Amino acid sequence: MSTIVDKFRISGGRPLHGRVSISGAKNSALPCMAAALLTPETVTLHNIPYVRDIITQRRLLEDIGATVLTPELRTHKITAAHVELFEAPYELVKTMRASVLALGPLLARFGKAKVSLPGGCAIGTRPIDLHLAGFEKFGAEVKLESGNVVARAPSDGRLRAADIHFNKVTVTGTENVMMAATLARGTTTLHNAAREPEIVDLADLLNKMGARVNGAGSETIQIEGVESLGGAEHTIIPDRIETGTFIVAAALTQGRLEIKDCRPDHLEGVIEKLRSVGVMIKEVNPTTLEVTCPDGLKAGNVTTEPYPGFATDMQAQYMVLMTQAQGRSEIIETVFENRFMHASELQRMGAQIHIDGRSAIVDGPTMLTGARVIASDLRASASLVLAGLIAKDETLIDRVYHIDRGYEKIEAKLRAVGADIERIIAPVMTAPILEPV
Ligand code: EPZ
Repeated sequence: MSTIVDKFRISGGRPLHGRVSISGAKNSALPCMAAALLTPETVTLHNIPYVRDIITQRRLLEDIGATVLTPELRTHKITAAHVELFEAPYELVKTMRASVLALGPLLARFGKAKVSLPGGCAIGTRPIDLHLAGFEKFGAEVKLESGNVVARAPSDGRLRAADIHFNKVTVTGTENVMMAATLARGTTTLHNAAREPEIVDLADLLNKMGARVNGAGSETIQIEGVESLGGAEHTIIPDRIETGTFIVAAALTQGRLEIKDCRPDHLEGVIEKLRSVGVMIKEVNPTTLEVTCPDGLKAGNVTTEPYPGFATDMQAQYMVLMTQAQGRSEIIETVFENRFMHASELQRMGAQIHIDGRSAIVDGPTMLTGARVIASDLRASASLVLAGLIAKDETLIDRVYHIDRGYEKIEAKLRAVGADIERIIAPVMTAPILEPV
């Protein structure tokens, strides 16, 4: 795993050819790992991606008192039999806001939970007010105490089922409240729930544990509370955003990639948009795609939306693609308020991009030239890698720990299909020892 100061050096201009395998979805593994807190029995999860956020989530579970065994790199056996700490500490939450997913399970099983309020991040303020409003509807008392959220169940220690209407679609909000509802007294209905495949994957795991969740993947989810949950074994779905990232890489470099171990049905909105601008995407079988771009790219507008719309996590990658497309494209980001951080770095590489609030106008095609750039958030850093793959000369990307949070060994996967990319592990500077004179 990278250290804070690692960099990527990329020499552009090489078409990618060959086969790449997609890892498990980080954004499914994170809630599924948190779900293990709902039972004292062992939950075994397969196809866990080897990325930084998973390591953080594992540390959180162990701090809380769970044991986590990894009989092999991508299998986690989690047993939360002896939980002593009912909180997610600040130092973990500040590095990974998904730590808030411990709230729902701890509150539901133990009647209490304390989680440091996550700060914002590069892409926006990212409040968790909808998570907390959901817990209050369950009868929990939720207070803010010196930067921490402290939640307590009603006096009998058990949450009460409720009808919960999210006034905004929230992925982890839906996950947190759905997990809490599994042990509540009565039947809960979630309205305007998130519909992402990761929600369905979590619901599949919860039902294997003995929960009664119906409707996951639709905007209305019903959860009939049960007395307790047991252990289970589950395989995490493939990462649809990693899949989309490699589709864009194949198209940009004018290569031919076979992308295996993926779920094209989880990426229909993105695949439809990419096909419409000239990317040839062939479904070889239900878990394999073949991607080429023989006739070049044409401009196409896109607006990011909650699933099944065009994923906000693919917006930065699409922006790079449109720098190579013939014509003018407009990209509208509706989910996060500040998710164009990559644009200024791409402009330094020669991209013609004009930002106006939530809208980005991209004119293409433009020749990109290598530069020294800085990653700011997970998907922005992926877009800088994509730009480096096609830029003239050399690109040096700083702060690649952002990309290591959500992409498993991306430089190894890219090198295996012909990219000229290497990780530079910068020596961590230690102060020279001053000899006494
Ligand atoms: C999840 O974040 C993903 N993270 C994000 O992926 C993804 O970009 C996002 O969903 C949208 O698809 C994980 O699943 C771990 P939201 P999440 O709650 O759940 C507002 C990546 O790159 N909101 O769906 O935090 C919020 O500010 C990451 O892997 C509230 O106002 O996103 C945002 O504008 C980045 N109040 C919108 O809703 C709340 O209580 C959607 O946020 C919660 C959210």
